[in-house]
Amino acid sequence: MKNDWNPELYLQFEKERRQPSIDLVSRIDKKNPQQIIDIGCGPGNSTQVLRYRWPDSKIMGIDNSEAMIAKAKRDYPDQDWNVFDAATEMIPGKFDIVFSNATIQWIPDHPGLFRKFTDMLSDGGILAVQIPLFWNMPLGKSIQKTSRMVRWANRIGKIHELFTIHNPVEYFEMLSKLFDRVEIWKTDYIHIMETQEAILEMIRSTGLRPYLDQLGEDEKSGFTNLILEGIKRDYPHRENGKVLFPFERLFLIGEKC
Ligand SMILES: C[S@@+](CC[C@H](N)C(=O)[O-])C[C@H]1O[C@@H](n2cnc3c(N)ncnc32)[C@H](O)[C@@H]1O
Repeated sequence: MKNDWNPELYLQFEKERRQPSIDLVSRIDKKNPQQIIDIGCGPGNSTQVLRYRWPDSKIMGIDNSEAMIAKAKRDYPDQDWNVFDAATEMIPGKFDIVFSNATIQWIPDHPGLFRKFTDMLSDGGILAVQIPLFWNMPLGKSIQKTSRMVRWANRIGKIHELFTIHNPVEYFEMLSKLFDRVEIWKTDYIHIMETQEAILEMIRSTGLRPYLDQLGEDEKSGFTNLILEGIKRDYPHRENGKVLFPFERLFLIGEKC
């Protein structure tokens, strides 16, 4: 499981990570879906939001991380978890809801991916997706800039290309070709953090992972110290000592009528 996700680290910020799933689920207008799939279910946190809203539905969680699926199986042994790569494998079956929270930015070719997701939908099915707009944020920009420093540019200067994130207009063009009804909105979650270091910890297990994976042990702390310097500049302490960390997220819904 080298370079795999660390579910425990990921769940340190479970509350912040859960809210977008709650908001996305609240906008899915579907009474009694029979079959639901959570693509990139991680340790099962987003799947539990689906489970809470539709307790009687059959819900499958898939993820290409063995560590994440192992954690989901440990925490929710009665539920349906599978290691599956949504980028390369065809997921068998038809679903009334195809749901994916904070995952598709890790997968390339979004027009192709949406076609694949549409083929998985039953008649009247709904696709619901949330994508973090990471590169719009001061933190995302600082990570890109730091990764281009000469000392490690040849290894991590292009890591941001691993992520696929389009703008809302591009997503509208993709989805309106496939769906009768499309909804798109953005929310800026203002996380109230205890410390500036907590911001670093929050992204260490997600967006920063592919960068750290390419660096030697001695370089990791040099890189993260520079990222922390940027955080201290861009996210100052407020009067009561807390730190505001705005996190922009894009939501997409497509419905086959
Ligand atoms: C940021 S986590 C999101 C987890 C959960 N959905 C949530 O809302 O917190 C992204 C997840 O996407 C998974 N992932 C990335 N690429 C994937 C792929 N090609 N197929 C399936 N899962 C993938 C990762 O393993 C990780 O668990």
